[in-house]
Amino acid sequence: MATRVGIILAGGTGSRVGLSIPKQLIKIAGKTVMEHTIEIFQNSDAIDEIFVLMHPDHIAVAEQIASNYPKVTKVIAGGESRNETTQRALAALQEYPADTKLMTHDAVRPLLADRIIRDCIDALDNYDAVDVAIASADTIIEVDDDRVITEIPPRHRMRRGQTPQAFRLGTLVDAYRRAWEDPAFVATDDCTVVLRYRPDKPIYVVEGSDHNVKITEPIDIFIADKLFQIGSSAAPAPTEPGAYHTALAGKVVVVLGGSYGIGADIAELATGFGATAHCYSRSGTGTHIDRAEDVEAAFADAFEKSGRIDYIVVTAGVLSRGKLADVPMDEIIDGIRVNYVGPVLAARCGLKYLQESQGQLLFFTSSSYTRGRASYSVYSSCKAAVVNLTQALADEWSDIGVRVNCINPERTATPMRSKAFGAEPEGSLLSSKAVALTSMDVLLSNLTGHVVDVRRMDSEGGLSRTELEARRISEALAKAESGEGFDSEI
Ligand code: CTP
Repeated sequence: MATRVGIILAGGTGSRVGLSIPKQLIKIAGKTVMEHTIEIFQNSDAIDEIFVLMHPDHIAVAEQIASNYPKVTKVIAGGESRNETTQRALAALQEYPADTKLMTHDAVRPLLADRIIRDCIDALDNYDAVDVAIASADTIIEVDDDRVITEIPPRHRMRRGQTPQAFRLGTLVDAYRRAWEDPAFVATDDCTVVLRYRPDKPIYVVEGSDHNVKITEPIDIFIADKLFQIGSSAAPAPTEPGAYHTALAGKVVVVLGGSYGIGADIAELATGFGATAHCYSRSGTGTHIDRAEDVEAAFADAFEKSGRIDYIVVTAGVLSRGKLADVPMDEIIDGIRVNYVGPVLAARCGLKYLQESQGQLLFFTSSSYTRGRASYSVYSSCKAAVVNLTQALADEWSDIGVRVNCINPERTATPMRSKAFGAEPEGSLLSSKAVALTSMDVLLSNLTGHVVDVRRMDSEGGLSRTELEARRISEALAKAESGEGFDSEI
């Protein structure tokens, strides 16, 4: 089988974004843009080797990043233009056979789906050149130098080109050889080179994706950040039977606020999977999460008992409702202390333990974090602050191997909720067991800086996978506990 090489083009500076560092080195969702991109290629079964082409002023940092990704075999200085950067990658492929499958991709498109990589590699079985594009919702117009329209091509035939672009090595090398001989050669991508200089080679177009955005202008950073949040809505669940037990055996989970609801379910699930759980709460152990000395004492206690802390989960929260002017002052202050000061203290006091175990801190937010709601001003603004805290700490801790994430469950059946809202229709709420299972998936993942949504229903209107899995697993764990045998499928 032909070798499949992913070429990540990071030779530019990103002048349109206008920051002092190249845009491929901006951090989003806990990692630099180019790390996200390299990781996609690293994790793809359709890629054997990766070359990183970096701006010459930043080679050292690219080499350092690349050292974490075993498929990266070369880090090369980029050229003056994007085409020159591609040419340098081709020079480094001199010894490779002409039928090598290669793929050039903008480092600044960090949301590429593996499906697109696979489709491009497959399409190279029938074509020597492949582009990726999406239909255009906007009408595309062509203008002259005076901004006067010269042409409006029919929209249904228009596409917006993205990357990757994929080629058989021999064809791209030949197209570039001819292009450099042409004094009039100009292009901004690699397919143009094949289109102009090897017109005998049809270029097949693979369906791209709206999510595959290119970070070009400042607003794209904001859009990419939001897309990472949406994209992380499904935490990667272990698929191997018994994987939870293997991954959690010997691990120690501390739950702040674990006396009932989601916290208690997380502790129960972790214990069922063979981990040790320590719960601290106001009602259970007299632990006030908004008091630094209490939080410190809780961690010290867990560490003394178990010798390590791998995961800290902060589920403590209070939900008070009412217009700001009507809520008693003590209740407002208490809300801020429990919902916001608590997470900050958990992070501050828990870091040393998590650094030692290379573990994870897990917070909880609410869907109100994206937009403040009347009658929830303190609650929703604290939840927004927790998301911001997650992102900031993921960034701050990325170099020391401590991960931090945040779960965003939709309306969940918990005692806190029934206290605030009374009885709600059967089946309208997410189960706290499903939230606990997703929390477990996140703790076991490599994610950091993510806000992970948990939903009751899937997009087709059925019960979500997490909800179904949570039921199956809790039934199996209950059976195991009652001595009816152990279900090896969990
Ligand atoms: N690129 C490259 N070598 C260059 C110029 C660009 O590898 N000499 C890469 C960029 O790093 C980016 C991709 O090509 O991943 C798309 O280019 P573009 O968005 O135009 O990047 P910049 O040139 O970095 O941006 P700007 O035009 O705003 O300066």
